Amino acid sequence: MPSEVSADSLQTPAPKLIDRFGRHIDYIRLSVTDRCDFRCVYCMAEDMNFLPRAKVLTLEEMAAVGRAFAELGVRKIRLTGGEPLVRRDVMTLVRELGALAQLRELVITTNGSQLERYAAELKAAGVRRLNISLDSLRPERFRRITRTGDLEVVLRGIRAAQAAGFERTKLNAVVLKHRNHDEVVDLVRFACDEGLDLSFIEEMPLGVIGDHDRAEAYYSSDDIRRDLAGHFDLIPTTEQTGGPSKYYRVGGSASRIGFISPHSHNFCGDCNRVRVSAEGQLLLCLGQEHSVDLRHVLRAHPGDPERLKQAIVEAMHIKPKGHDFNLKAQPVILRHMNMTGG
Ligand code: GTP
Ligand code: 5AD
Ligand code: SF4
Repeated sequence: MPSEVSADSLQTPAPKLIDRFGRHIDYIRLSVTDRCDFRCVYCMAEDMNFLPRAKVLTLEEMAAVGRAFAELGVRKIRLTGGEPLVRRDVMTLVRELGALAQLRELVITTNGSQLERYAAELKAAGVRRLNISLDSLRPERFRRITRTGDLEVVLRGIRAAQAAGFERTKLNAVVLKHRNHDEVVDLVRFACDEGLDLSFIEEMPLGVIGDHDRAEAYYSSDDIRRDLAGHFDLIPTTEQTGGPSKYYRVGGSASRIGFISPHSHNFCGDCNRVRVSAEGQLLLCLGQEHSVDLRHVLRAHPGDPERLKQAIVEAMHIKPKGHDFNLKAQPVILRHMNMTGG
């Protein structure tokens, strides 16, 4: 807050980003890098071309973006990737954002591979919660789904997160038929035993992946709930984390099980977020192309936060109503998930 605060400015309501459908945007997902040490089959093709360094925002530019959004009323920033923790010096960005007074929550989505090294530092820098991808508890299968991942390293990362004392760490499992759909009961049991939350995610058709037919691999949230019904007492809740999950409590456990169902239960009407890709594209919807080039604004007007904020405010007018994913067609959105982190 500026040192000279007039009586007038005290009356001015805090700024808010509102789109033309009346949705209040108070959450941004910031992709720190498009790179990743995994190649998950639903996220990437086996052979990926990553962005040249000059196209990726510097950590200082990312911090400026985070600051601008916070000044515009954003209260939650989620760092994603690719894998955010493979970016060199990522902690300098985490510390900058962790110190923003306006933020209620700084959170990270990670594949867990670097958590043994970073968990305690992230906690100390002000990160409140971690979401960690975990699609299988079987080492061979985990390797096949991630193509390069080592389950044991990720499990050690999860333990490091617990030791660091994060609140409500959440696991994310993308469920694919004939890949891991038969593990949903084991995953819930694991989450309950470890005192973790867990979200099951329906795969979204982002980018050409080449590994499987997404329509054939579709396994709906309703299918999963049916599979779980004989094993657990799932009690619906109205809890919200500001994300798209519909949560259930597991009877006799502190864990919550979430379902992210972009196909079977569209949640766009309540959308409260926008994304910034690693190259500084402000993406107004995960499932559409509407975007504004913040890198251009940053580099054309260095050190001018007002220009950046103006571009962000104007972008709200082009936020689309929602996504229309179609698993049976070729992906309309050619951007892979690693550009935006979901
Ligand atoms: P919290 O609720 O804050 O814990 O996070 P989250 O579940 O929203 O975030 P996370 O990064 O763990 O993402 C889980 C999944 O939700 C990913 O597959 C995202 O792609 C998906 N997701 C998040 N936001 C949206 C959205 O606006 N639209 C769609 N279609 N999917 C989303
Ligand atoms: N559909 C749904 N979820 C995906 N993720 C990555 N690619 C996809 C996809 N095509 C998930 C990851 C991670 C989260 C950020 O997004 O598993 O948990
Ligand atoms: Fe990496 Fe996450 Fe994509 Fe897997 S889903 S390849 S961990 S960015």
